Amino acid sequence: MWINRHKKLRNADVLGLNERNVAYISRYNKRENFPLVDNKLKTKKAATAVHLPVPKLLGVIESPVQLRTLPSLLKNQQSFVIKPARGSGGKGILVVSHRRGEQFFKPSGALLTDGAIRHYVSNILSGVYSLGGKPDVAFFETLVHGDQVLDKYSHEGLPDIRIIVFQGFPVMAMLRCPTSASDGKANLHQGAVGVGLDITRGTALKAVQHNKIISHHPDTGVEFADLVIPDWRKLLQLAGHCHDFTELGYLGCDIVLDKTRGPLILEVNARPGLFIQIASGIGLRSRLQNIENLAQKDWHVDDRVDYARNNF
Ligand SMILES: Nc1ncnc2c1ncn2[C@@H]1O[C@H](COP(=O)(O)OP(=O)(O)O)[C@@H](O)[C@H]1O
Ligand SMILES: [Mg+2]
Repeated sequence: MWINRHKKLRNADVLGLNERNVAYISRYNKRENFPLVDNKLKTKKAATAVHLPVPKLLGVIESPVQLRTLPSLLKNQQSFVIKPARGSGGKGILVVSHRRGEQFFKPSGALLTDGAIRHYVSNILSGVYSLGGKPDVAFFETLVHGDQVLDKYSHEGLPDIRIIVFQGFPVMAMLRCPTSASDGKANLHQGAVGVGLDITRGTALKAVQHNKIISHHPDTGVEFADLVIPDWRKLLQLAGHCHDFTELGYLGCDIVLDKTRGPLILEVNARPGLFIQIASGIGLRSRLQNIENLAQKDWHVDDRVDYARNNF
């Protein structure tokens, strides 16, 4: 089987949580750079300022008083996504896929009245979904329609591509595919499939769900072995740019493929998880050390992408 072509994960190369925290996050990520990425709205604005593509911002509601502006904000929107600026792990994201007058609908077909949306936004403001339960702001962005090539690898939701970037070099990547178990979200803990990707080609290395290797998508039955991510070089370049505008030495960026616009940055994470090693069947440690051992610093993003594709 295609999976067997790949090396077994060598334990010695697996980066553990403690080493990630001490040797990489604390060492390469300055504290002052965290607030930008811990707030998705700030990240979006900073990315836009340097002309990087993101889902379009439709509006922001910052306080309960501003809830009054909700009807005018949504007036011409047929579909949209509501997010807490400081949410994480898929919590608090509401996808509205269509509307009929003042009635809104989720992708599952479930109805949301305008009152329900207002209540939802008000919960976001009070911090229900946010880091530390602190008051938050809600923002609205366009609903991304995924590239057709990836449609068959997900159930109802939008797949995203997580790329780990170290000192500006893309070092490891995985596609996260929503399943019926994950309720249309690309959240691995809820049962999404993690597909490790070859950095050189953007092809699948192996696929893992609930810590088990699988060969086909559990809902669509499509085989992962033939998967190739379109626009692969562009994705790696975007990942490289995430280093440049956030100034984080160790980060994970989430990118989605829009049907018409191509790759878009969803968010940047300063403490990305380590499951990507399981999904890839490859440890991070030697790749990180490879970059640490480079004598020359300050490479152009294109050269960093080429280096990663030639060496990983
Ligand atoms: N604009 C959007 N359109 C469609 N789906 C989205 C959009 N934004 C997020 N999603 C879905 O929600 C998931 C989580 O979004 P993300 O912004 O990365 O927040 P989190 O911090 O919860 O991971 C994405 O992987 C995707 O499946
Ligand atoms: Mg995310």
